[in-house]
Amino acid sequence: MASARSLVAKANNTNVGSLILMVFVLCSCVANGEYLGGRRGLAAAAGNPTVFDITKNGAVADGTTNSFKAFLDTWIQVCASPVPATLLVPKGEFLTGPVIFAGPCKSKVTVEVQGTIFATPAGYATPEWFLFEHVDNVVLTGPGTFHGKGEDVWKADGCGQQAVCNLPPTSLKFRNILNLDISGISSVNAKAFHMFLVKTTNVKVNNIKLIAPAESPNTDGIHLSNAVNVHIIDSVVATGDDCISVGRGSTNVTVERVICGPGHGLSVGSLGKYPNEEDVSGIHFRNCTMKDTDNGLRIKSWGGSSPSTAVDITYEDIIMTNVKNPIIIDQNYGTRGGDSNVAISNVLFKNVRGTTITKDEVQIMCSKSVPCKGVNVVDVNLDYVGSPGGHPSASGGLVGALCDHANVVFGGKLSFPLPK
Ligand SMILES: *[C@@H]1O[C@H](CO)[C@@H](O)[C@H](O)[C@H]1NC(C)=O
Ligand SMILES: *[C@@H]1O[C@H](CO)[C@@H](O)[C@H](O)[C@H]1NC(C)=O
Repeated sequence: MASARSLVAKANNTNVGSLILMVFVLCSCVANGEYLGGRRGLAAAAGNPTVFDITKNGAVADGTTNSFKAFLDTWIQVCASPVPATLLVPKGEFLTGPVIFAGPCKSKVTVEVQGTIFATPAGYATPEWFLFEHVDNVVLTGPGTFHGKGEDVWKADGCGQQAVCNLPPTSLKFRNILNLDISGISSVNAKAFHMFLVKTTNVKVNNIKLIAPAESPNTDGIHLSNAVNVHIIDSVVATGDDCISVGRGSTNVTVERVICGPGHGLSVGSLGKYPNEEDVSGIHFRNCTMKDTDNGLRIKSWGGSSPSTAVDITYEDIIMTNVKNPIIIDQNYGTRGGDSNVAISNVLFKNVRGTTITKDEVQIMCSKSVPCKGVNVVDVNLDYVGSPGGHPSASGGLVGALCDHANVVFGGKLSFPLPK
């Protein structure tokens, strides 16, 4: 934490010692029942939320003044409040470089964004723009927008599927947090990932919008890593990369009523990129809609991985329009070669309907070393709307399905002949 903070502080020419000192100063003020400025709105009667407005700490709503220090100073007040407190970004346009909202805090904290926050183009010593870290009971709420200005850096990013590559900063990262509630915000043109949940537990994401052009690289909507008990609902993710990707160590994740596309679909993975990844289990996607996505419902793991498991993954009640590779397990993802050792089992694809531009509607391509077990494909009805002609499907006809190193049970009504 200290080192991350010092990186940001250096990036913004702020003295680390003075930041740490400020925390102590504020704490002692709080103990005396006084706050240093910033209080606004509701009276600070016991239990009432206290609102700290960034413009009271020097933020300027002109879209050009770097308001980094106001964000940080306001956060320190909010975090030190013994009663639930709110950091308010009022209406207007604000500019800031990287900000770390570090805890632990004394009480529940809310960040309410009404305006639009723009990211500075460069000067990122850290891999994120906004980092919430080591805080419990965090609420991030809208209706405002985080605009990452990614259009300025996408051209320079050539990461693709390389194993080692430094991505541009993530717009919103949450790390080591217990109880997180995100709603009502928008994130536009992130430099890379829009939102990244790492080692977070008990997360609700509701009614958010993540937007970037189809061709923007690595702009995943929401990436999860070691995320536990996560519920993502009623949101729109239209970006250039995965809509939602559930990575290593994630368990009990439900994604419901999410509209996805353009983008690379709803993914579990990529898994097995790093040595000794934690297992993944209980990942459920329901009632989602996919439009014009490259890949629909996907589980991907790297070749040449170390052993781990991915168990109990379900995709149910999914509507697709013009989706490429609608149902795919790809255990030879990435550039590394060799067999994947991520053992995939208990997977269900059920009630998937709409249209596809890929003739092989179902592609289950598992690892030779650890074949997939218990993959169920039930009621998949997709009309082929891709270009006519070209190669036939794996079945020899217009549409088909293919399986490699997998124990797949097909059931219900299917729009393709069973693979041989
Ligand atoms: C799974 O996560 C949900 C929140 O999304 C929670 O309500 C539920 O209790 C969790 N289940 C288990 C077994 O922890
Ligand atoms: C999808 O939504 C419908 C209508 O609300 C509901 O009946 C159904 O149970 C949902 N599917 C799943 C898998 O929860």
